[in-house]
This record gives sequence, C-alpha cells and structure tokens, in this order.
Amino acid sequence: MKLVKHIANLGYGSRRDVQWLFREGRITNAAGEVLYADDPLEHDAVRIDGEPLDPPTGLLLVLHKPTGYTCSTKDLGRVVFDLLPSRYRLRSPALSTVGRLDRDTSGLLLLTDDGQLLHRIIAPKSKLPKVYVATLAENLRGDEAASFASGTLLLDGEKTPLLPAELELLSPRSARLTLHEGRYHQVRRMFAAVGNHVVALHRERIGGLALNDLPAGQWQALDAAARAALFSTAAVSP
Ligand code: URA
Repeated sequence: MKLVKHIANLGYGSRRDVQWLFREGRITNAAGEVLYADDPLEHDAVRIDGEPLDPPTGLLLVLHKPTGYTCSTKDLGRVVFDLLPSRYRLRSPALSTVGRLDRDTSGLLLLTDDGQLLHRIIAPKSKLPKVYVATLAENLRGDEAASFASGTLLLDGEKTPLLPAELELLSPRSARLTLHEGRYHQVRRMFAAVGNHVVALHRERIGGLALNDLPAGQWQALDAAARAALFSTAAVSP
C-alpha cells in the first residue's frame, strides 16, 4: 500500500488532504527528512508534524465508558466515539465497539478494527465471562443466585434458557454477576425476571481483563500482554 493511502486510512484526511500534507513537507521520517506520497510504507518511521503516526490496523482499545454515552454511531446524543480522538472515527477499516453497553451502563468497553478478533471475543463459543456489578431497587430475596445458576431461567419473549450465571451478593441491594453469553439488556432483564429492578450497572471485567483504576471517560490501547490476558482467566488491568 502507498504511504498516502495508509495515512488516509488512519483518518488523517482524504487522500487529497494527505497529498497536501506531503506537499507542505509536513510528513517526514524521524530524522526530519521530507517523505513523498509513493515512498515505501514504514509505519514506525513516519512523522506528521514531528509526531509518530497513530497505531496501524489491528487496534484494540479498552474504554471506561461513563453513563450517558451510547455505543451506536447513529444515536443523536453523546456516543462513545466522542471520547476518542476525532481521527479515530475516520479510520478504515472502521473501529467498532465489541458488543454494546446500554446508555445507562458504565464500565469496560472494548473497541477494535480487527473483525476476526471482534468475532473471537463475542462468539458464543468463546464464552468469555463478563462481570457486572448491579445496584438494585429492592433488597435481594436470597433465591436469585440459585435461579441464575440453574440454566433454566427464561427471559421474557425468549425460547432458549439462559446459560448458568454466577451471582455474588455484595450488600442487600448490590451484587456481582458473571455472564457467559451476551443477550440484549441481559442483566436488567435477569433481575426483572426475579422481581427486582437495576438502578445502576457497571461492567468491571471481560475474560481476564479488568478495568481496575482506569478513570471514567479514559481509554488505552491494549498491548500484546493485555490481549493475551483477555483470553486468560486471571484478572489483570490494562
Ligand atoms: N446487560 C444489560 O442489561 N445492559 C448492559 O449494558 C450490559 C448487560
């Protein structure tokens, strides 16, 4: 691929815009020597206005999603992409969220431009555990953990029972819930099925990757170790 196309694909502008950056001498190598649009592609060597390029395709990000943001780009309100550099919206291949969190849910959200990786994370057979902390409107009755673990719980309007899920009581009105699948509004609907109502929901972990102290609204690119941790069972922070 030509350098000009590579840089355009990273969201720095249309090919025409990037051609202008070349003409203005703003694209150089690390030694400050001006590069040309058809120079060979050596991603790590390129500088734009002296700055290294954004990471190449194969990006995996972890975002601490605050409440009030949706995962859909079609939404008119605030979207999670508003929390990333604006260039990231223009990348090709596009950056997508790995599954979704509701507008009112906070916590760990992954984004990637790698379709195979996305599939590997969300595919039902991967059964990567997703760990949520739910705050509830009513005191827990005490029978919810057995119901969620049964493998027979049916959600309203569905024909296939839920896979067994683990519930750990944290206080009379809060609990940690570990799911091994991802259905629409699953946590909220599970608590509704046992006569309760979720007033706050936070995802703290996917697979072996925990959010830990990444502040709300902040994101990080995941390195190879964090990616491996995602598919392992021991929890680590990004
Ligand atoms: N379950 C829900 O109900 N909402 C989410 O955002 C994620 C899981």
